[in-house]
Amino acid sequence: MILAFESSCDESAVAIFDPARGIACEWIHSQVELHSEHGGVVPDIATREHLRHFGPLLAKAMESGAWGAVTRVAVTRGPGLAACLAVGAAAAKAVARARRLPIVGVNHLRAHAWSPFIPVHAQSPGGFWEALPALLPHLGLIVSGGNTILFSIGEDRRIQRISGTRDDAAGEALDKGAKLLGIGYPGGPAVERLAAGGRPDAFDFPRGLGKRGDLDFSFSGLKTSLRYRVQAMSEADVRGSLPDLCASYQEAVIDALARKTTEALALGSYRSLGLSGGVANNRGLRGALERAARGAGTRFLPAEPRHTGDNAGMIAFAAWSDAEDATRFQGSAIRVDPGAVL
Ligand code: KG4
Repeated sequence: MILAFESSCDESAVAIFDPARGIACEWIHSQVELHSEHGGVVPDIATREHLRHFGPLLAKAMESGAWGAVTRVAVTRGPGLAACLAVGAAAAKAVARARRLPIVGVNHLRAHAWSPFIPVHAQSPGGFWEALPALLPHLGLIVSGGNTILFSIGEDRRIQRISGTRDDAAGEALDKGAKLLGIGYPGGPAVERLAAGGRPDAFDFPRGLGKRGDLDFSFSGLKTSLRYRVQAMSEADVRGSLPDLCASYQEAVIDALARKTTEALALGSYRSLGLSGGVANNRGLRGALERAARGAGTRFLPAEPRHTGDNAGMIAFAAWSDAEDATRFQGSAIRVDPGAVL
């Protein structure tokens, strides 16, 4: 069984994964409310909160029935905020040392990449490796506050990055758009809530698609376009148009993500399409990618809502499923890597 820690940004999380049963238990403490008054994550506050919350989270894990059966420790090594990563790594190393267990540093993005497979494992824990070949090659889209990445997992289970964003990530575009509109943080859920009452075709926002065949994303033009639009409107007009502005802005983000994903699907014979990261909670995006998968005759594998944002369940799962990650269990030494890439 694997005990995992996650602390890359503003969530402190601990989980225990049992390869024979699935995720046995998981605990998370989110700091989102604390950061919302600042309009974004404040690294010092995040670090302080991790220091405060890992003790109680660990106490819960120690009280669980699974604690005694833990044989390995995993922790997010990066990418993420350096001081935040260091707190999780210190907690994980302390447990590994005290219990003389091997420890592994997990790449957070690779964990997002594998997270859509957690429900596949849960359906048939003993049959996971037999079920996996029917889902490979896999095309995946990671959409979070810091990343927008298309990647593949080949029949050999190797992860290959296909494309990414040239500027802002999709979640960042939603967060910055929400800030411009003054509707709160995190922006994605706020935009989605207001968009539900608006028309997606009310405003014409750019898609930043680039040339055909170019699978990279770009969201900075969209954000600028929203700024100019808002500057040209009166405050009362903006307030009255919030649902339409949000629906149209969100539609531009979803459309760009869905079009590039559809283009990528057509370039390979993928057997499944994954969707993970915080923005994967967006119902419109889920619907659009489900349609894209159906159109390509591919199985749609969205990560479960509890594993879309930052969480330790996916770190534990990837420590088990991702044999390719270079820093496999290496005694008691792990190094954090704030700038790690997929
Ligand atoms: O993966 P995640 O929890 O964290 C990091 O990137 O560290 O993703 C957070 C992002 C934020 O940008 C947030 O606005 C976005 O996910 N998000 C959403 C929704 N829920 C969270 N975006 C669109 N629709 C949502 N329902």
